[in-house]
Amino acid sequence: MAFISTVYSKITGVFFDAGIVSWDVLLTMMNLVQRKRRVGHVTPEGHPGYGGHWPEFRPPREGDSRCSCPALNAMANHGIIPRSGRGITFTELNRQIRSTYNFGSSFCSFVPHFAAKMLQKSYSKDVFDLEDLDLHNGIEHDASLTRADTHFQKDQSVKHLPYIEELLASATGKDSEGNAILTLKDLQKVQGKRRAEARAKNPEFSLSLFHKIFGSSNSSTLLTIFGGRVEDLRSILFDERLPEGWESRIRQPHGLTITNFNTTVLRCEFGTREKDFEVSKVGNEEPHPNV
Ligand SMILES: *[C@@H]1O[C@H](CO)[C@@H](O)[C@H](O)[C@H]1NC(C)=O
Ligand SMILES: *[C@@H]1O[C@H](CO)[C@@H](O)[C@H](O)[C@H]1NC(C)=O
Repeated sequence: MAFISTVYSKITGVFFDAGIVSWDVLLTMMNLVQRKRRVGHVTPEGHPGYGGHWPEFRPPREGDSRCSCPALNAMANHGIIPRSGRGITFTELNRQIRSTYNFGSSFCSFVPHFAAKMLQKSYSKDVFDLEDLDLHNGIEHDASLTRADTHFQKDQSVKHLPYIEELLASATGKDSEGNAILTLKDLQKVQGKRRAEARAKNPEFSLSLFHKIFGSSNSSTLLTIFGGRVEDLRSILFDERLPEGWESRIRQPHGLTITNFNTTVLRCEFGTREKDFEVSKVGNEEPHPNV
């Protein structure tokens, strides 16, 4: 696993603190030997969403801050983090992502630390607004599956509905009850197509390997935390709302670790073949109007 992390760091240029890595490996091993949480008991008692009861959903109001990430916006829309999307502490983000989505504590520590560094803020003292996260080519990047590229849409909190439609319509899987499920293959395809189109149509297109991997991490979140379930994703991606009764599909007691997440991320990335979707550069027309 240390090997994986070295390879991963090499290709992404992201430095993982040795402490986080060993902590993550430890959590991964504890997950293997300890019992999974029971269905219906994944969200811990005493936290918003326990028993599937999420705090009231309210769409953002004029002046509220939102960002390109549907999962974080949903937390603000339910008041799990401030509804204004403003003045959020990195430490609070860490705690709330963990109890809401059951990401492992190592992952939940890594992400806000990364964000603080990107914004040149102090992890322990400073606060941020959701829109701050949309610094172009910081975390936010081109070829999103839910947003038009920054060149076409400066406000990255704005959803691009046709992309979300296309993503959900691409689901080929079915669960045992016949519900539509997005599979790894589906996401590889949608990503490949989206990248090829963005590259052809966006005169300012850029996508580093790091951001490709980041995109594959988003896709892997859809597959793991949300179990690829199209009905749930419809609510998350279109309304940025947690479905009533929803809980993370990750039932491991220590949450989704970076080590486990990796496997999906890397498979997703290396199975994404942009070349299969070469688009001609005819017409730099803008994508369809947004909402
Ligand atoms: C992944 O999430 C970031 C942050 O919300 C976003 O900017 C990016 O475009 C997303 N990537 C994909 C491929 O959806
Ligand atoms: C990949 O796995 C290693 C753990 O062995 C971890 O340090 C690294 O952060 C992982 N990367 C991601 C984002 O999945």
